[in-house]
Amino acid sequence: MVVTVCVGSSCHLKGSKQIIDVFQKKIGENALDGKVELRGSFCMGQCVNGVGVKLDEQLYSLQPEEAERFFSEHILGGMKK
Ligand code: FES
Repeated sequence: MVVTVCVGSSCHLKGSKQIIDVFQKKIGENALDGKVELRGSFCMGQCVNGVGVKLDEQLYSLQPEEAERFFSEHILGGMKK
């Protein structure tokens, strides 16, 4: 699965770095290196709602405090399928 986090200026201000840190930590904890590829991207046109995050081609926007829950539900949850 490719996880892309927007690091455009608006998302940077909204905490994209925090989200990346949480995702990196969780990828390590769950031994998902090689299974989940974390990438950065420029603006996804999602800045109004929160930080743009894409799982493969599916676009989401989230707040930094939602990152852990999002990882469990969508990334870990998505791996089990
Ligand atoms: S800067 Fe991140 S979606 Fe626009």
